Amino acid sequence: MHAFSYINGQLQCENVALQNLADEHGTPLYVYSANTIVDHFQRLDQALASIDHEVAFAVKANSNLSVLRLLAQAGAGFDIVSGGELFRVIKAGGDPAHCTFAGVGKTREEIIYALQNNIYCFNVESEAELAYLNEVAAELGVIAPAAVRVNPNVDAKTHKYISTGKSENKFGIDFDAIGALYDKAASEWKNVRMRGLQMHIGSQLTSVKPFVEAVTKVKPLALSLKEKHQIEFWSIGGGIGIVYHDSLASGNPAWWSAQEVDAKPLSIEEYGAAVVPLLADVGLKILLEPGRYIVGNAGVLLTRCLYEKKGSAKTFKIVDAGMNDLIRPALYEGHHEIAPLKEYSGALVTADVVGPICESGDFFCQNREMPDFQPGDVIALLSAGAYGFVMASNYNTRPLPAEILVDGSRSKVVRKRQTLEDVIAGES
Ligand code: LLP
Repeated sequence: MHAFSYINGQLQCENVALQNLADEHGTPLYVYSANTIVDHFQRLDQALASIDHEVAFAVKANSNLSVLRLLAQAGAGFDIVSGGELFRVIKAGGDPAHCTFAGVGKTREEIIYALQNNIYCFNVESEAELAYLNEVAAELGVIAPAAVRVNPNVDAKTHKYISTGKSENKFGIDFDAIGALYDKAASEWKNVRMRGLQMHIGSQLTSVKPFVEAVTKVKPLALSLKEKHQIEFWSIGGGIGIVYHDSLASGNPAWWSAQEVDAKPLSIEEYGAAVVPLLADVGLKILLEPGRYIVGNAGVLLTRCLYEKKGSAKTFKIVDAGMNDLIRPALYEGHHEIAPLKEYSGALVTADVVGPICESGDFFCQNREMPDFQPGDVIALLSAGAYGFVMASNYNTRPLPAEILVDGSRSKVVRKRQTLEDVIAGES
């Protein structure tokens, strides 16, 4: 379910006209659909219904407290990567007993905070980290639950910056070294208990093949660790890709067909049908850590056109959002569809949409055919619910945008726009 579509010529999120939100709250503005978030969580949960499983939302994709609260209420667990994300989950009413803690560089303070809150498991990424976890747990007189992240050396065939499952990536421990490490933990480290095994091969995967390859490759290891070390879970990570091209819900306007279209998207049913049979006889609780799939197409970034500049070579449409608000095009060559809030039926133009930041990389698209929106018009950058606001910064001393959560006909400010005083708070 994607809740963004044109109704009576107006782009809406659920039953709320986005133009009204832009006029009331200003731009740039993030808007999320509550029902899409819950629907995506439930569809994934449903796809795995026949096996013992838990869906742990990857908080890094969208950590707004209201989004986390929605997911906690829907029954999600959480995959966190910092003490800060654990703090947010707790504030949002999530249960630390359903939190896994990932990441290659956990600090002493973060480990202590997570131990004190009895998280479900530390997913460790090096032998040194496991030894340190044992040391800190011993100081506190507790036993830390741990899993090791195995690097299955599988090519996720995604952008190089979001591919993580190859031997040359910094993530995880080589497949062949895992067995010995679990043996060592059992014989030498009394303050860790090996509770599971974890893997994650990359993000924005649009084919089910690499998932199948990784699960098939790691399954014998998971089974042998269950046998020998009584592990109870296997996390197969996140990474399910979403549609970035052509991502409106329905009633796509005529000009939309001019846009290039993604390779066939990966459907959640297809994902479930491919991986569930492989996992059904493992006898371990299967954890999933999706971020983008749950929130990506549940959010948009609204931005107002400020100026148009027609150069000899190009037309630039200059908008009030910049790469500091949504960095994905600059960092990963990410594609976000552009939809004017008023349905457009005129001729298309070829233009760059750029922000106000003093960097050549500050663009949302280049040489794209699009509706000829004008200064004063507001457009939506679609599929901005994952890795959007969370990656925003104050670069160029620009206040962070506000965030709105829409539920049916209701909308709520779930994060206020920063003021300039907020931006400089703490400086002297
Ligand atoms: N689990 C682990 C261990 C991860 O590192 C990640 C993402 C996930 C789960 C969730 O992956 P997802 O289901 O969202 O694909 N900023 C980039 C994406 C970075 C992903 C980092 N790790 C982007 O905007 O494309």
